[in-house]
Amino acid sequence: MDAKDRLRRYLEQRRELGESELVLDAMSVDDLMSMIGAKNLKSAQKSAPVEHAELVAPIAPVVAEVVQVAPAPQPSVRFDASVTSNWREVLGQPTTASESIAAPTPKALPLSRRIDVHVPTWLSALELPMGLHVVHAAADDHAAQLASHVTTLKTLDEVAESARQCTRCALHSNARHAVPGEGNPLADFVCVGEAPGASEDEQGRPFVGEAGELLTKILGAIQLERNDVFICNVLKHRPPMNRDPLPDEVHACQPYLLRQLELIKPRVILALGRFAAQTLLQTVTPIGKLRGQLHAFHGIPLIVTYHPAALLRNEAWKRPTWDDVKLARRVLDASRAESLRNAASE
Ligand code: URA
Ligand code: URA
Repeated sequence: MDAKDRLRRYLEQRRELGESELVLDAMSVDDLMSMIGAKNLKSAQKSAPVEHAELVAPIAPVVAEVVQVAPAPQPSVRFDASVTSNWREVLGQPTTASESIAAPTPKALPLSRRIDVHVPTWLSALELPMGLHVVHAAADDHAAQLASHVTTLKTLDEVAESARQCTRCALHSNARHAVPGEGNPLADFVCVGEAPGASEDEQGRPFVGEAGELLTKILGAIQLERNDVFICNVLKHRPPMNRDPLPDEVHACQPYLLRQLELIKPRVILALGRFAAQTLLQTVTPIGKLRGQLHAFHGIPLIVTYHPAALLRNEAWKRPTWDDVKLARRVLDASRAESLRNAASE
């Protein structure tokens, strides 16, 4: 492989991570890609099997200095369990922006120096790198309208049935089956993916294709059975050709996911891939920046990692994914231990 190919491949991988800026000459990744004659992979990203025989790591040092990610604003971190019970009000209210922290690298900031950090002792004892946080779900008329019905649903089965009958966006018309999600209704651990793919659409079950098999193995590696956890997606119907979900579709579907999380009240949420992470955290920060840190979703610790489908294309993401799921496991264990302590002291 010549240098041009290596650079092309490297840039493809960086772009898949959501990075779009180059420092050198203020040239964008897309511009440079077209200069070196690479096709725009954006639309083909999911379906095209990107070669992954060669790992990104050996290539990275070659061009590492010229690639830089624009720092995204970092809202404050607030773990406040009481926020959780307010979701239904929140859905009908405007988004409350969190304060900004003037820190470009949250990892570099020790917990004690961060502004407005409300982290329970058991969690801060883990000394994890702290990331972004969302206080409220995005509110819009569409979501609020739908929410009034969805938020009254009493069980996950009712949510699933409601999602099956949903016609709030156009996706239902092409889908064979809705894929509301499945698993333990009392799960401590919830995995959230993007949207059903072909196999999921076929069976009406989440993560049953190749990526799903890998997810099952990943969970097994941290001693979690599929049946222990709850697995679902941001979207409950398959987008045609696995295209990216559209904002309207996300808004229409969001109440289902919110209600599922509200009913389950997990201890940890694992967001799989850029899309789930950015949707849940209401941010455009690239996944490479979101992963490896602790976030909060309505008071629930949330950890971001790469999508299993991305791991199938790129072996280099397996290592960081392993780190992320170990992090998630630590938070789960610490949360359970805290509950035991509380129960013992009552
Ligand atoms: N990819 C997803 O994001 N979700 C699934 O359920 C399957 C594949
Ligand atoms: N792009 C995604 O959408 N998800 C990943 O996990 C990695 C790259």
